[in-house]
Amino acid sequence: MLLEASGLHVAYGDVRAVNGVSFALEEGELVSIIGANGAGKTSILNGIMGIVPLREGQIRFQGEDLTPLPAYRRARAGIRIVPERARVFPRLSVYENLMTGVYGLKNKIDLPRRLDWLYGLFPILKERNRQPAATLSGGEQQQLAIARALVSDPKLLIVDEVSMGLMPKLVDQVFDLLARLNREQGLSILLVEQNAMASLAISRRAYVLETGVCVHSGPAAELMEDPKVKAVYLGH
Ligand SMILES: Nc1ncnc2c1ncn2[C@@H]1O[C@H](COP(=O)(O)OP(=O)(O)OP(=O)(O)O)[C@@H](O)[C@H]1O
Ligand SMILES: [Mg+2]
Repeated sequence: MLLEASGLHVAYGDVRAVNGVSFALEEGELVSIIGANGAGKTSILNGIMGIVPLREGQIRFQGEDLTPLPAYRRARAGIRIVPERARVFPRLSVYENLMTGVYGLKNKIDLPRRLDWLYGLFPILKERNRQPAATLSGGEQQQLAIARALVSDPKLLIVDEVSMGLMPKLVDQVFDLLARLNREQGLSILLVEQNAMASLAISRRAYVLETGVCVHSGPAAELMEDPKVKAVYLGH
């Protein structure tokens, strides 16, 4: 297993956001965690990245126990996240934002080649290279956040609600891109989404989260046909 999360509990004071969630992701897999507003999706990611301490549970990555490690050490292990609402640095240029993605990097990457590859995927970022990130549209900032996560050639890409605030056509484009990165580059991806239909369509497996608890899990194709999942998440 590339990533193994077992018995995660996350709480903010008395607010219990995640109550004993376990999931795993194999190398080369695209797996989603789907759930409604407030289900605890971002809290799980905060727990994985070390942004919020776990009350209980364990995170293993490539067999290594990450649980006692601070956030920067987890990133250094090869996990990168595209955070909710993109969160790029508005005053830094597009290029400088990309460079924050390689800060503290241990493994050697061929940066010029990597940037060329990213500019090929996201031509707008090349065009706007020297402009402050704040001048990009929401969709373009989302692309920048994805590119920033990819520049370090991560072993695992985590994507938090990438579809939020994007128009349907852009949502399709971003999901197509993630599916392609997974298929063609073998990139392992953990997708966290409210948009159940779009994420199940490109995932191999998925976990369904409800108020901090995992209520279903299995192959994405089966979950898409599950009457309970359909009723709640797919609007049927
Ligand atoms: N910093 C915080 N302090 C207190 N409560 C929080 C904090 N962050 C999240 N929560 C609470 O934890 C629960 C889970 O929130 P979380 O952000 O993980 O949900 P989510 O599934 O990511 O939702 P969304 O789809 O809206 O992003 C919610 O009840 C939320 O109000
Ligand atoms: Mg969230």
